Amino acid sequence: MRVLGLETSCDETAAALYEPGRGLLADALFSQVESHARHGGVVPELASRDHVKKILPLIQSVFDTAGLAPGDIDGIAYTAGPGLAGALLVGAMTAQSLAMAWDLPVVAVHHMEGHLLAPMLEDRPPAFPFVALLVSGGHTQLVQVAAWGKYVILGETVDDAVGEAFDKTARLLGLPYPGGAALEVMAAAGDPARFRFPRPMMQKPGLDFSFSGLKTFAANTLRKDDTLSGRQAVARAFQEAVVAVLVTRCRQALQQTGWKTLVVAGGVSANQAIRAGLMAMGAEAGATVFFPRPAFCTDNGAMIAYAGCQRLLAGERTDRAVRVYPRWRLGEFPSP
Ligand code: KG4
Ligand code: ZN
Repeated sequence: MRVLGLETSCDETAAALYEPGRGLLADALFSQVESHARHGGVVPELASRDHVKKILPLIQSVFDTAGLAPGDIDGIAYTAGPGLAGALLVGAMTAQSLAMAWDLPVVAVHHMEGHLLAPMLEDRPPAFPFVALLVSGGHTQLVQVAAWGKYVILGETVDDAVGEAFDKTARLLGLPYPGGAALEVMAAAGDPARFRFPRPMMQKPGLDFSFSGLKTFAANTLRKDDTLSGRQAVARAFQEAVVAVLVTRCRQALQQTGWKTLVVAGGVSANQAIRAGLMAMGAEAGATVFFPRPAFCTDNGAMIAYAGCQRLLAGERTDRAVRVYPRWRLGEFPSP
């Protein structure tokens, strides 16, 4: 089963070819970050337009890299949600049109399922069951994954996603969008003893998160000290609060499920301080922690090709209609 996967939910256009046993045959990505950066965030119309321009050349390039032709593949997978409606439509229309032209089965994939299965593409993949921490620009969720396709949301953010909090705080620090990775660099130079940020929600039971207060705390702290060293220390204290919150909730989720495997995925899982904090917690709790390689933490086509391949192998097919689900909860499987 060779599968072409397409990802167009936000501001990365991506395509990949995956085959079980052989693994990833090719993957290609075009990041639109530069065209959105000057607007301080993703502009949906620009995103859709860029996806239209890039998707076919990217598909051609993965076939060229793998030395394959359309007749060599067995199915097409595309991200059907959640994400920006116009952006998702480009991927859905492309996948459905090619599937019709090439007479192939097609399957709709949930973007966050793609993220949580991304560590399966590594040499040492996690085994089920596991707890997944999904941390991206749009989501912060703890998911109980009993088996492939069986997802129960244990907790999630009640306000901003953690990536959103990174990006908003980075903006306060004068860093360009999306500022998560740049904030991490700034934090490395910050004095850890200068400020201490609150650990939101940590006194509350349950596994939910809240991150919007950290951005407000950063704004108030910067009003008192907006020097370079002040900003660096704010970045450091913000990041330490995020790490502490994520570590606490993951420890609690492992205790609650009694499971010994934690999978961390989504753009924010590229952060080294978060990785180190979760690895240390795992070692202490006797749990193994898995991450995707950095390139597959952020949006990519490989994770969609992989997730779609599992669905196609299980016999799942999406009908020949262009439908997208901008708001689609992960627990709501199979496809709505
Ligand atoms: O998963 P992703 O590529 O897109 C969504 O589905 O949202 O995640 C993007 C998010 C952005 O908020 C970005 O700032 C954040 O991931 N991010 C990071 C780092 N690298 C990317 N946040 C903190 N530290 C990083 N190193
Ligand atoms: Zn994503």
